[in-house]
Amino acid sequence: MINDTLLTGPTLRFDGDPAQRGWQDAVRVDTSGAVLIRDGVIARTGDADTLAQAHPQARRVSYGADHLICPGFVDAHVHYPQTAIIASWGKRLIDWLNDYTFPEEIRLSDPEYAAQIAARYLDLTRANGTTTVASYCTIHPHSAEALFRAAAAQNQRIVAGKTCMDRNAPGALTDTAQSAYDDSKALIDRWHGKGRVSYAITPRFTPTSSEDQLAALGALWAEHPDCLMQTHLSEQTDEIAWVRDLCPQARDYLDTYEAHGLIGERALYGHAIHLEPREVDRITETGAALVHCPTSNTFIGSGLFDMAGLRARHIPVGLATDTGGGSSFSMLRTMAAAYEIGQLRGTPLHAAELLWLATAGSARSLHLHDKIGCIAPGLEADLTVLNLASTPAIAQRTARAQDHWESLFATIMMGDDRAIADVWIAGARAALA
Ligand code: GUN
Ligand code: ZN
Repeated sequence: MINDTLLTGPTLRFDGDPAQRGWQDAVRVDTSGAVLIRDGVIARTGDADTLAQAHPQARRVSYGADHLICPGFVDAHVHYPQTAIIASWGKRLIDWLNDYTFPEEIRLSDPEYAAQIAARYLDLTRANGTTTVASYCTIHPHSAEALFRAAAAQNQRIVAGKTCMDRNAPGALTDTAQSAYDDSKALIDRWHGKGRVSYAITPRFTPTSSEDQLAALGALWAEHPDCLMQTHLSEQTDEIAWVRDLCPQARDYLDTYEAHGLIGERALYGHAIHLEPREVDRITETGAALVHCPTSNTFIGSGLFDMAGLRARHIPVGLATDTGGGSSFSMLRTMAAAYEIGQLRGTPLHAAELLWLATAGSARSLHLHDKIGCIAPGLEADLTVLNLASTPAIAQRTARAQDHWESLFATIMMGDDRAIADVWIAGARAALA
């Protein structure tokens, strides 16, 4: 028996990258759109009446004119273990790590606590419309297992890796070059490519990984080139000065990764705010992706990411909360912060570009654009339906809006989990917390 679902209502459509085509050509809203879902996959998209006539047996779910059917949000850089310490006051990066983050990550040495936090984290992000995240875990292999299991329980697509650290961290949070290699390899063998899981080899950053560890993880990546590799790059000036002291022979921060094979198409560098021209050139040449974490960059006081300059070089950029350095689980709030940082740099992003970054752009950075991030036939049916009139304040602004972009922008700037009308994961409607 055919088990089709037909969603009808205003539907977001992407026809390319807005940085290359201009948002007017790349992003559209089909006001009487429809999405036909079959076996967890988007089978057809098109006009609501046409698809309803062609598929009369489909279960129909109709969304009104003040809704927007979007791809599920993709958060390209998070630390799920930091869920319980989000919004911790008053520190910059290194003190914030030592005083808040590392003590909490030690608590995840308890596998039961790790499982509890993994499930809580996915509940919170799903309620905010996020269907896939790329997460750092802790150094404990069971922390990665916990997230993979929690995601599988909800049938969610997930990217994650055991975080590797063998210096400048508490003893309870360090591994070694060899154990980082062995544990990461075992996790790859067990999880990578199984179901909806992708593994990301995860050296936290140069200050906490020795050259031996970076080399071991570079070797592991060479053996598993279809894995992603995620790390941090040039987030704060104090951090960069520390890297210069630790690696005096390196040309710049990126070179500390490059020297050990930790650069390439499937590399993801979080933050990347204070880049040298050589670093931008190498990132461009290699096709590596950067991940912009705007609420984190303002919250920890890191600086203003150069979205316009880097996108003009055709560097793939994903958008991310960076929970719990970021101050919100919501990709709406994250889009708003990206807009504000664009304003501070004199290059504001349009609502269409913000939504593209939070979906297709992040999926592209994770090399998952053939699976998620877009509403198109053949892609997995991960969808987030926005209510563009979710609060009195937003509804009165939407009532005045001239077009969908104006009302979408009000939801981006002022919306929260109340704006998430529905989340569909692999074609099934998710229960939201
Ligand atoms: N750099 C190294 N580790 C982290 C982390 O957990 N959060 C942020 N924001 N930056 C980092
Ligand atoms: Zn991070």
